[in-house]
Amino acid sequence: MPVATDPLFEPLRLSDRITLKNRIVMAPMTRNRSPDGVPGPDVAAYYRRRAENDVALIVTEGVAVAHPAAVGDAGLAEFAVPEMFGEAALAGWRQVVDGVHDAGGLIFPQLWHQGVMRREGSGRYPDAPSMRPSGVWGPLGRRTSSDAAYLTDMSEPTRPMTESEIADVIAAFAASAAAARSAGFDGIALHGAHGYLFDTFFWAETNRRYDHFGGDIVGRSRFAAEVVRAVRAAVGPELPIMFRFSQWKQQDFDAKVAGTPAELERWLGTLVDAGVDILDPSTRVFDTPAFDGSDMSLAGWTRKLTGKPTMAVGSIGLEKDLYAAMTPGQGIAGSNLDRVMARFDRGEFDLVGVGRSLVADPAWATRARTGEPFTPYTLDHLATLY
Ligand SMILES: Cc1cc2nc3c(=O)[nH]c(=O)nc-3n(C[C@H](O)[C@H](O)[C@H](O)COP(=O)(O)O)c2cc1C
Repeated sequence: MPVATDPLFEPLRLSDRITLKNRIVMAPMTRNRSPDGVPGPDVAAYYRRRAENDVALIVTEGVAVAHPAAVGDAGLAEFAVPEMFGEAALAGWRQVVDGVHDAGGLIFPQLWHQGVMRREGSGRYPDAPSMRPSGVWGPLGRRTSSDAAYLTDMSEPTRPMTESEIADVIAAFAASAAAARSAGFDGIALHGAHGYLFDTFFWAETNRRYDHFGGDIVGRSRFAAEVVRAVRAAVGPELPIMFRFSQWKQQDFDAKVAGTPAELERWLGTLVDAGVDILDPSTRVFDTPAFDGSDMSLAGWTRKLTGKPTMAVGSIGLEKDLYAAMTPGQGIAGSNLDRVMARFDRGEFDLVGVGRSLVADPAWATRARTGEPFTPYTLDHLATLY
């Protein structure tokens, strides 16, 4: 029996200017197909295809901010990450935005700085040193997705970021947010998860600073809060700011930045006070209980503690999480929409972030609406990225 998904197709008003036509959001997914940092017509067609098929909001793949160490090799075989600076890239993004708008969708760019995950000497600006809050990549010997050779290279300590380097990165986010606004984007998404720059400020294992960017969770959130304030100043009051964070990191799948709901409240409170409008707690399985003693998900706690619109993400429409599903040729799909709707109806989250299901099938959202069977996701879909 198809699951009743009608509540997912109710609109959600985010600001005076921005109303989502439904609750389905395409989760940010690196495509790595923008040579010289410029998204071309294929990128525009790819996002437009999802917007034409009932996706209300697209959060783009991670996009480099205007800082030379923003992105590089972080485990990617070839390098073609798009940028949010420079005339050619912005002209490309205008085409992407126009296509999504023509199809009735909205689109936020995900602004990205890889921080510690960028291999020294890689990317389009190899001379720029990678940015690490305290010079460390993270502890070794944890459950991780990174291969041994990368780990050996990355675990070599470097020097910590200076205050002026921190100021430069904050300015880079503001500049790219302003550029995104001028290209017509409807809001700004910030990648604060998965062990990249923001996350290594949040995580005590990688932030050992004694200045005001370190210390307790409020101090460790100060860098992100300053970026949010700078982005808000750059884009004005109308564009919503969406912030992705995670407990888990690529350095350590089992890590926890917040050990308790009280700590989560202080962490997110700092971000919301700075101006975050939408929260995107990134989990690998959307309904995994976040803390002992309750079955509530991280999205559920986030919504309850902040009252802000919150997106759930992780294995929506799929039976296996991202790292459990790396076997080539193996199809995985399964309607877990009954579980999704149970949590949605309980008010645990407002938005549903869909990753691999939308890679497998641009019309996934339409199938969720009509109850048609889903296309099984395989790794081959990542190779074609139609
Ligand atoms: C190919 C691929 C690329 C991804 N790239 C990004 C990214 O650039 N930024 C990000 O925040 N998350 C990224 N993710 C994580 C997804 O946004 C999402 O959180 C994750 O895939 C779980 O959702 P799913 O189970 O629906 O795929 C990526 C995931 C995949 C599969």
